[in-house]
Amino acid sequence: MNQVIGKSVNRKDGRAKVTGEATYGAEHQIQGLVHGYLVTATIAKGSIRTIDTQKAEATPGVIAVFTHKNPPKVFKPTNNWMTSKIYEARLPLSDNTIHYAGQIVGLVVADTFERARDAAQQIQIEYETQPVEVNAQQANYQKAKSMFGEDMEYVAGEFETGDFSAVDTATVEATYTTEVEIHAPMEPHALVAHWENNDSVTIYEPTQWVKGSQRTYAELVGLPPERVRIVSPYIGGGFGCKAFPWPHGILCVTAAKEIKRPLKVVVSRRQMTANTGHRSHTEQTIRLAANKEGKLSAIEHTAKSCTSPVDVFTEPCTGITPVMYTTPNMKLKQELAVLNVGTPTFMRAPGENPGMFALESAMDELAWELNIDPIELRLRNETKEHQRKKLPFSAKHFAECLTTGAEKFGWSDRQMQPRSQQQGDLLVGWGMASATFPALRSSVEAKVRLLDDGTAHVLTAGNDMGTGAYTVIAMTAAETLGLPVENIRVELGDSMLPNGGLAGGSQMTASLTPAVLAACQSVLETAQAQNAQEAFAKLRESGRAAYEATASSAPGEEGKKFAFNSWGAHFCEVTVDEEIARLRITRWVSVMNIGRVLNSKTAASQIRGGVIMGIGQALMEECHLDPTTGYPVVYDLATYHFPAHADIPRIEVSFVGEPDLDFNPMGVRGCGEIGITGVAAAVTNAVYHATGKRIRSLPITPDKLL
Ligand code: MOS
Repeated sequence: MNQVIGKSVNRKDGRAKVTGEATYGAEHQIQGLVHGYLVTATIAKGSIRTIDTQKAEATPGVIAVFTHKNPPKVFKPTNNWMTSKIYEARLPLSDNTIHYAGQIVGLVVADTFERARDAAQQIQIEYETQPVEVNAQQANYQKAKSMFGEDMEYVAGEFETGDFSAVDTATVEATYTTEVEIHAPMEPHALVAHWENNDSVTIYEPTQWVKGSQRTYAELVGLPPERVRIVSPYIGGGFGCKAFPWPHGILCVTAAKEIKRPLKVVVSRRQMTANTGHRSHTEQTIRLAANKEGKLSAIEHTAKSCTSPVDVFTEPCTGITPVMYTTPNMKLKQELAVLNVGTPTFMRAPGENPGMFALESAMDELAWELNIDPIELRLRNETKEHQRKKLPFSAKHFAECLTTGAEKFGWSDRQMQPRSQQQGDLLVGWGMASATFPALRSSVEAKVRLLDDGTAHVLTAGNDMGTGAYTVIAMTAAETLGLPVENIRVELGDSMLPNGGLAGGSQMTASLTPAVLAACQSVLETAQAQNAQEAFAKLRESGRAAYEATASSAPGEEGKKFAFNSWGAHFCEVTVDEEIARLRITRWVSVMNIGRVLNSKTAASQIRGGVIMGIGQALMEECHLDPTTGYPVVYDLATYHFPAHADIPRIEVSFVGEPDLDFNPMGVRGCGEIGITGVAAAVTNAVYHATGKRIRSLPITPDKLL
């Protein structure tokens, strides 16, 4: 037996990534490759009156110019969440209407990137402009449906009076806002489309969902899925913005067919600020009522977010509310407004992230109101069951996250008074907040091969978006087969391989490792061997080249018995220099309960990544829109402020709990997203403790502290 699960194992793909050996979508070299440059709208609302492409077409090296007057042929996909989703229902270049600044209005193809870009500048466009609506505060909000079309309102208990002071002793009512954020992955959106004989195409594109992408592009180009191959072995960050095709991808694939040349399209950083998704602005009002012991008697949570004119995406902030704390009276409401912006989408913990900022801030406010320690307040209100599903949570160790975290942080030394802790001229604050994220999994397959050279190969069309999937898959196979991790080769991210599911909703590991486990067990059965060494001996005796097995794993009936969530708690220390309004985060402790931890190194790394992204949201990230043009006034990774090393302290991550075997045979729940939830609230709660100022609108820029 080779016990490796739970140990700290370096990334299988680490070396390839740091040496540049790993090939990303746009790096694929293909004979005869030509380059497309996107032309994007400089107004946010109106229409194109005239578009003159003559000069661009006459520019040396130009092969084609596509606009709404001559769009490449495209078929309308069914655009269903489960099969063929695209991010924006409107197909690119479908008419002359402009819905948001940065909308794609043309594609110039030339022999070099520079010539395509140069020609793109020569296109003359006259617009008919209309007044833009990009201000979330002034938008017209309507009752929202979820992205799956479900009603998002929920009421339990009594809400008739609406007067919370009549309900109980202590009340909190406050409104919290979060700003527009962009995903800003290190690898930009980019792809290469390579057609062969007009009836099959290979698409090299980073995607979080290889098989979904295959089906969607197949529908868009009118081919059966087996004629469309997606190659996506590496993704340089996605965070939710690389799950489905965007307009630039659709345009690249369809234009490549028309010009009969392999075509590359890279979206510039500037363009990416506007047309490849973002996290919507949110405004949330929370009302809490509790008795003097801190038992909650009512929670009301109303959330507003914005979408684009061309698709519907609701940031589902209220999803966490029935999960966190028990109360007899609960009311949830979601509203949505349309702005002249590109379509917002999933971004690390969509809904849970802003939702937990609001709820965990309000809980802190309630704790101060009642003069109860915020950890104690949470412990007194923990719920054993999901209050909408009415199902008990499996393997829940939330209380342990709180108590373990408190101990590691030294919470008992905290002074229960704002502005009570100082370090020289600096105010010091300690804050905490809870974390949660649902545990999801889907039906996937993996293939395992034992080869006569003593190695095992695992193959699946799942992928590693930077989370460590290559490594945990190898570890699962290593442990099941009894081989060292180095003897396992993992191939991911190619639609020719068995269906590996979606790297989204923190579900890749929870979906895939049970299938890898099953495939390994099955290949040993095929070989009639106890472990891989025995199987290799049989291979040599028999003269066979390999044993092979494919197995699938899918959720069963367990979802009828249990609700599945992961849990956590964040603790942080901040210092505030009031004279110059400088806020620094000086200490961080996160304790998580994610079922069984497969790789302690990559799991902790996922939590750290989430915390860093949450600190970015708390301190600096915001994508301002120009109120007149509607175009983002951030340009690149320098003007979109996110954390650098100097902004981040050492982040101490630990895990508690037990394998969640009610959830899946590996006992593992996901950990890609939970790390970011609650982070911003932990920071604002610490800022309150330091300064006595309650910051309810993110990010906490210096002006808000002065
Ligand atoms: Mo995640 S926002 O589901 O990629």
